[in-house]
Amino acid sequence: MSAAMIEVRSLRKTYGAGSGTPVRACDQVDLDVARGEFVALTGPSGSGKSTLLYLLGALDRPDSGTIDVDGERVTSMNRAGLAAYRRGVGFVFQRFHLLPALTALDNVIAPVLPHRVNFDRRARARELLASVGLAGREDALPSKLSGGQQQRVALARALIGSPRLILADEPTGNLDSRSGADVLDLLTGVRERHGATVVLATHDAQVVERCDRVVRVRDGRVA
Ligand SMILES: Nc1ncnc2c1ncn2[C@@H]1O[C@H](COP(=O)(O)OP(=O)(O)OP(=O)(O)O)[C@@H](O)[C@H]1O
Ligand SMILES: [Mg+2]
Repeated sequence: MSAAMIEVRSLRKTYGAGSGTPVRACDQVDLDVARGEFVALTGPSGSGKSTLLYLLGALDRPDSGTIDVDGERVTSMNRAGLAAYRRGVGFVFQRFHLLPALTALDNVIAPVLPHRVNFDRRARARELLASVGLAGREDALPSKLSGGQQQRVALARALIGSPRLILADEPTGNLDSRSGADVLDLLTGVRERHGATVVLATHDAQVVERCDRVVRVRDGRVA
């Protein structure tokens, strides 16, 4: 077995084939990520960062190429295999994507609600909200929280399943620099405490400064 946790080989994803000019959003990408590594994908708008994150999280399928995670071939998994794989991945999005009708606590619980788990969901959600500095705000609706607070709820939600891999798409993109720094502290803390691997897309210089490695993406290719 090789040392890398994630091995991406010749990954390809083209959008719009058949209707106009196809866009090679991911073009023969090779990428290795070590366990516990904190990797930042950077590159111009439209270069393919989000596409690569979605493929890594199996939220989308590539046209060709392979993704192996912990020696398992994600790109060959059936539906049940993919569902199990996704449960080990925590996603954080630029626009938080919280469910507006649910409280902060219920948003954090949502990913594990359909699954049998060996822990008390509400207790774990309370702990996670406290760990992101939101003790006492469990019953708040997202609309009553600031952007930074909403992103911290989203981070707690991403962590409830104890993911081995955290994928974050511009997690500080909609935050002021103070809130962005807080979210970044939390992400690096998760990596240190839980050994989770973090791959994120960012334009944020303060994120780039704190990651282990910067991977530059350009026209769907990794430099
Ligand atoms: N669902 C889609 N349908 C068609 N084209 C798409 C789709 N998603 C992305 N693309 C195209 O694929 C290319 C890569 O997009 P992607 O969103 O991965 O870039 P990005 O690096 O994340 O950009 P940004 O920094 O603006 O978020 C772009 O040309 C984009 O227009
Ligand atoms: Mg993007």
